[in-house]
Amino acid sequence: MKKIAICGKGGSGKSITTSLLSLGIRRRGKKVLVIDADESNPGLHRMLGFKEPPEPLIDYVGGKAVLEKKIQEKMKSGIPEEKVNIWTKAVSIAEIPPDFIKVRDGISFTTIGKIYMALEGCACPMGIVSRSFLNELILEPDEIALIDMEAGIEHFGRGVETGTDCVLVVVEPSRDSLDVALKVKQMSDQIDIGDTWAILNKVPSEDIARRITDELAQEGLNVIGSINFDKEIFEICLTGGSFPQDKVNEGIEDVLDHLFP
Ligand SMILES: Nc1ncnc2c1ncn2[C@@H]1O[C@H](COP(=O)(O)OP(=O)(O)OP(=O)(O)O)[C@@H](O)[C@H]1O
Ligand SMILES: [Mg+2]
Repeated sequence: MKKIAICGKGGSGKSITTSLLSLGIRRRGKKVLVIDADESNPGLHRMLGFKEPPEPLIDYVGGKAVLEKKIQEKMKSGIPEEKVNIWTKAVSIAEIPPDFIKVRDGISFTTIGKIYMALEGCACPMGIVSRSFLNELILEPDEIALIDMEAGIEHFGRGVETGTDCVLVVVEPSRDSLDVALKVKQMSDQIDIGDTWAILNKVPSEDIARRITDELAQEGLNVIGSINFDKEIFEICLTGGSFPQDKVNEGIEDVLDHLFP
């Protein structure tokens, strides 16, 4: 598994899971590229211990306004939106220009782009950059990419996951979160990428973990790790801090054992 999309309902814990997985993968001796593909939330770089995010990749490919025109031209020439590729050649991590990638303690970080202003238009160009970049990204055998996705399932409509190898869906104990997770599983199956697994988060008790695990398993979605509700994690999120290595908990290790046996 090389390119892992972290999906799930808004607020379920995608960014925390992404951050903790990156620390865990690093500890296992692999290199990690974390890709922030969330157009709205600004803080993933902080969770990873970066003071500032790098410049967004959408600017590397010309900026949103230029890109919108390019995309329209391609669509006018008959290419359907879901096939438009604005990243015309394969790219390795080493080839991403330094302004657009930051590296700290062996973890690299890049971001697709954010919505900055009211009335600036839809986020479609971001989806197209994400999809194109992920499809063209070449990873070395010891490199893993973790993609922190936008909440919900719209990115499946844009085909962003076609550039990934598997999906990890984060599930918190709520009906909506389970329903979104099952929808994610269904949509991953439709586009026929690799496997889809679930990780539980904010779990208050073993009993609840078992109930959710059983329910998801009945629908063909297997839980491969479980993170308890943790006051320290909550506090780090409240203060805008980063996660120390010792927050790589058992649930994260279980996920890593499963993904990289
Ligand atoms: N294991 C946990 N223990 C305690 N609190 C948690 C835990 N996981 C998440 N939280 C709380 O949930 C909030 C959302 O977590 P996070 O930002 O990782 O979710 P997200 O899925 O990335 O959200 P978004 O959809 O907005 O991107 C955190 O700010 C924190 O308050
Ligand atoms: Mg997030």
